[in-house]
Amino acid sequence: MNLFDPATYAGLRRPLREAETLPTECYTSEEFYKREVETIFKKVWNCVGREDFVKNPGDYFTRNLVGISLIIMRGKDMKIRAFVNACRHRGTKLLEGKGQCRDVVCPYHGWAYHSDGTLRSFNAMDQALNLDPKDYGLVEVKLDSWLGFVFVNFDPNCMPLKQFIGRLGEHTESYNWEDMVTVRHRETVINTNWKSYVENSMEPIHLPLVHKKSIGHVFASGKAGWKFTHGNPGEFTIMHTLTDKSRALLPGDEGFDRLPNLTGTAADGAQYIHVNPCTTIGADLDCMWFKHMVPEGPHKVRNIAAFCFPKSALERPDFDRLIQNYYKRFDLVIDEDNWVAEAQFEGIQNPMTRVGRFSHWEQNVHWFDNWIIDCVLGQGESKRLAAVA
Ligand code: FES
Ligand SMILES: [Fe+2]
Repeated sequence: MNLFDPATYAGLRRPLREAETLPTECYTSEEFYKREVETIFKKVWNCVGREDFVKNPGDYFTRNLVGISLIIMRGKDMKIRAFVNACRHRGTKLLEGKGQCRDVVCPYHGWAYHSDGTLRSFNAMDQALNLDPKDYGLVEVKLDSWLGFVFVNFDPNCMPLKQFIGRLGEHTESYNWEDMVTVRHRETVINTNWKSYVENSMEPIHLPLVHKKSIGHVFASGKAGWKFTHGNPGEFTIMHTLTDKSRALLPGDEGFDRLPNLTGTAADGAQYIHVNPCTTIGADLDCMWFKHMVPEGPHKVRNIAAFCFPKSALERPDFDRLIQNYYKRFDLVIDEDNWVAEAQFEGIQNPMTRVGRFSHWEQNVHWFDNWIIDCVLGQGESKRLAAVA
């Protein structure tokens, strides 16, 4: 099978009700994955976290995106920047995990960088000729923010983040996410392809079976009110479910107050928003959570999840007690999804497996898979520009 021949995707390209799923090789092939890295992850905006992960000058966290280790750091000037996590002397990796430092000091020979990435000092270079420290600061990668979310882009000629986000803001403006605080992180590594894991977050039909011990009831209760939207323009999909109760709690559990001043689709339910390529935001009536489903090769995905609540919830005397109800629900659901993701991937890797079909509930999965193929076949940019025009 030629994975780079448009004819391979004739089944996928059909309208949803007649369309076939992606060939299983798209989930298992190293070659296909390499093409995704070049045409997707190195071209589009990648969400890497929240601005409040780095509250103070010198705060940093590192992120490995498709083999490129990055430092996301807040400078003394309060600006957040992204740097390639490698020393300009002989390339040593500078930082691990997250933390706080005044300057970034290389553990090998001690070259040191200011929090804005400029070179502060170097060792044993007193006889070097034509060496201007200005030329040897940390390599910077484009970074921008939207509603408190931090995005990076490796392509110096990329479209502005605002254009990438498109009309998504119309669905999210009343949440006041900039005012929310990240209260917890959770990372898990799952043996599956990143696209399968993303697709799982775009459809509700797995809820009754996979989540029968947690949120399985949600599918039936929201049945009259599930709506699916995708960006036009904008690199996102939304799965919206009608509800007047938080979906971030298990039935009967007590939680925090509803967010004030919600309007539009935000006011009448929960929205599961996917931002290409691999971030899903759970936008609920009382809180927000998100997960980055970052590939580590074609067969492994790192789910980096975080949970955010309004400041008013953190100020409550019963915060520590009530937050446990949310953690219980989040952990249960993540574990249930992880279990089925690995079972699915075992089937996908079976060489006798053949393509399948989409349910009409999977229209966002169909949109996402078509977007992947647009990018991999080099048709993504022109379609994006056409949508904006
Ligand atoms: S490699 Fe960093 S100081 Fe030498
Ligand atoms: Fe799920």
